[in-house]
Amino acid sequence: MKTKSIWYCSSCGHSSTRWIGQCPTCSEWNSFHEEQTFKEKKTPSREPSPLKQIQETQFDRYQTSFSELNRTLGGGLVPGALILLGGDPGIGKSTLSLQIANSLPSKRVLYISGEESLEQIAIRARRLQVSSDNILFSNETEVNAIEQWLKNHKPDLVIIDSIQILYKHEIASSPGSVVQVRECTAALMQIAKSLHITMIIIGHVTKTGEIAGPRILEHLVDTVLYFEGEQQQNLRIIRSIKNRFGPTDEISVFHMQNAGLKEVKNPSQLFIEDRTRGTPGTVIMPIMEGSRPILIEAQALVTKTFYPTPSRRSTGIDPNRLALLIAVCEKRARLRLYQSDVFVSITGGLRINEPAADLGLLLSIASSFSNRIFDPDTAVIGEVGLGGEVRSVPRIEARVKEASLMGFKRCILPTKNVASVRSFERDVALCPVSWVEEAIEMISHKN
Ligand code: TYD
Ligand code: MG
Repeated sequence: MKTKSIWYCSSCGHSSTRWIGQCPTCSEWNSFHEEQTFKEKKTPSREPSPLKQIQETQFDRYQTSFSELNRTLGGGLVPGALILLGGDPGIGKSTLSLQIANSLPSKRVLYISGEESLEQIAIRARRLQVSSDNILFSNETEVNAIEQWLKNHKPDLVIIDSIQILYKHEIASSPGSVVQVRECTAALMQIAKSLHITMIIIGHVTKTGEIAGPRILEHLVDTVLYFEGEQQQNLRIIRSIKNRFGPTDEISVFHMQNAGLKEVKNPSQLFIEDRTRGTPGTVIMPIMEGSRPILIEAQALVTKTFYPTPSRRSTGIDPNRLALLIAVCEKRARLRLYQSDVFVSITGGLRINEPAADLGLLLSIASSFSNRIFDPDTAVIGEVGLGGEVRSVPRIEARVKEASLMGFKRCILPTKNVASVRSFERDVALCPVSWVEEAIEMISHKN
């Protein structure tokens, strides 16, 4: 086979015939690495067929014991589907995969562990009280060998832990390189589709440029799940970024415990239960994660700055959004934030990018600035425009309903949204606002 040298970006897979300092596609610096590639061999062409002749296969999805995860997947694991499970090292990918395998006692599972020794896996399995006899473990990392085994044994589910450790012997690049990761996944996909084997492919999010990250596989696989969450906190969120067999942007929330991950059935409860009622700067808002409303808490801290340029920091929200909300506060409500450092965070390690959270974030800043408490029994909904207008948001019913279910007594919401939630008025008082200053007025005057 003819080989030639190509430079690949290990973050997004962009290829180039020479080294480049910054990737033109994903803007990553220093991510280009030289790899040997081989000339594509010609595949025999297949006859196209009309729609009528294409058989639809009905599949019974595998139901894991995690009902939340099943929902995030669109109703369980689809036979023959490739699922990419990405996330930072140590976040819980191996743990979750093993728990999934254990929760399918009637399915035959092969767990390929290249990252850890079989002894390490056994220790984890004991800790997780894995009892299924149908899980086999292997250290094999060469894809042709794996393929042979799969053809002979035809398991129902294969877990690859991780894709960055697999290799095909005919490819010169080292395991973890863009070419290896891609070719191995493509080979696994062929097997999965032809033998109807479901595969969970674990991919580490990498910080250094030497190892290709899971992003380069997103277009190949059927479903992409990413783990989110702060390493120090025990909360873990799984978000579906892509799903050929279900909805996207759904999340399920887990709690990392001593015996593995446990689902959180009522995330709103969890995100707001630790809050300290009666501190300025704290506001609760219902946001949508996929089809699901969740109540989350925004905390702001506004302090006098001692430097020429005030500091603006945020966790869980886009810094540009924060800058915009601060500017609106300055202009519309005349809060003199140019003399203040502003810190805003979303508790629980959740990242939100929903405009419907704007008004809540803005009120948390205003509340901390004025050192006045924002009523802890009020939930806040609304997008904020550059002119200080409060704009309507989608899915208002779901948001108000969640606030009502969780015992909130009042909702501040966009005037334009009020008509569609009148029916909730028996349980929650609705406070419509059209401008941010009206909402800021509602921050308590007593302290
Ligand atoms: P792991 O699944 O090994 O992460 P990954 O495969 O994504 O690298 O999980 C690692 C962390 O989870 C580790 O710090 C220990 C913790 N952990 C628990 O808290 N409880 C458990 O039952 C297990 C198995 C792990
Ligand atoms: Mg692992």
